[in-house]
Amino acid sequence: MTDTFTPPPYPQARTCPYDPPPGYRTLPRDEPLVRVTLYDGRAAWLVPHYDDARKLLADPRLSSDRRRDGFPALSRRFEAFRLRPPAFIGLDPPDHGARRRPLIPDFTVRRVAGMRAEIEAIVAEFLDRMLAAGPPADLVEDFALPVPSMVICRLLGVPYDDHAFFQDASRRLLRSDDPDVSVAARDELAAYLRALIEDPERRAGLLGRLAAADDPPDTDDLVSSAILLLVAGHETTASMIALSVIALLDHPDQMAALRDDPDLMPAAVEELLRYLSIADIAGIRIAREDIEIGGRTIRAGEGVVIPNSLVNRDGDVFADPDVLDVHRSARHHLAFGYGVHQCLGQNLARLELQIALSALIRRVPTLRLEVPRDELPQRGPTTIQGVNALPITWGA
Ligand code: HEM
Repeated sequence: MTDTFTPPPYPQARTCPYDPPPGYRTLPRDEPLVRVTLYDGRAAWLVPHYDDARKLLADPRLSSDRRRDGFPALSRRFEAFRLRPPAFIGLDPPDHGARRRPLIPDFTVRRVAGMRAEIEAIVAEFLDRMLAAGPPADLVEDFALPVPSMVICRLLGVPYDDHAFFQDASRRLLRSDDPDVSVAARDELAAYLRALIEDPERRAGLLGRLAAADDPPDTDDLVSSAILLLVAGHETTASMIALSVIALLDHPDQMAALRDDPDLMPAAVEELLRYLSIADIAGIRIAREDIEIGGRTIRAGEGVVIPNSLVNRDGDVFADPDVLDVHRSARHHLAFGYGVHQCLGQNLARLELQIALSALIRRVPTLRLEVPRDELPQRGPTTIQGVNALPITWGA
């Protein structure tokens, strides 16, 4: 008999903004590695369990280097980017560390905590504007996107006045189905950031400091890092704010718990990061040598994908994993990845989310969606999960 079994496709689309794609639920649950088919027909190993995922993300035998032959591409866009100089998210040690290290001091818990008052002021400013102009409003355009966008601009030293340009370019870079459009957006951002970095009159913030250092990094490398930070710095947190609001509105008991006890917010943010797992396509690797995991072998040269929407709902690690519970302790989730590539911006993202969600809940107690939730357009499976617009209203 001929074996006609085709492994399921990866990644797959969500049908609910915060639940894993229904197709992932039907994957074999007792296997440590599940064969999946990528968009171009190639195969890769999907890792469905939390413990295996954590081990593998910390394993130096797995490479993040997108330039390696056979690196698993999740879309035509992803494949096209392999022709551009990689940012450090796509490099291995020691090059990875050499580029990440100079950035670390600006993203520590302590340094980020020093930005609290500034972030609170930015949140208040956009909320004031939204409340004065509405109801209704588009929560994404009026609040969820501009808040992290302005914060990352201040940190990096990018003029927020140019936000229309770089928000649009980030959108095209991350979401266009046409790889030429995405790569062109990347090149526009690169040219814009290069001009900023090379102009001593306009240099500011972290980028300006690095560019003006006695021993400055190579300009191409700095431009690649700047694109990564600018794009990751606002798209991800914006998606988290929007999807958190949807999930909390769908779970009024959890919203009420947060309203009654604002001290729950830090734990709630961890739980929302776990539950929403917006960057579930982030963990993509290729094996440099054979790796045994759970009695199975990943062969050198094979691709590995670690969907954090699945591993963050592993019932062996999180009791009742499909329940949103702001009282649980979820901080060991893998929503920010794990190992050397663990999210550089996680402390900033946490603080922004805590401040933004607390302010929304406190100041807009009657907040609700203006359209049925099922009518919100879903994003495709190959990008950061989120909604492109979130029509809301408030008042009696
Ligand atoms: C890496 C998620 C916010 C900058 C990552 C990775 C994940 C992730 C899963 C690991 C990728 C991998 O293992 O290949 C998220 C989520 C965010 C968020 C869910 C929001 C809630 C941010 C922010 C910034 C940022 C605000 C910047 C200020 C980065 C950078 C890396 C990264 C630079 C690459 C780290 C490295 O390769 O060493 N992020 N991120 N992220 N993130 Fe985030």
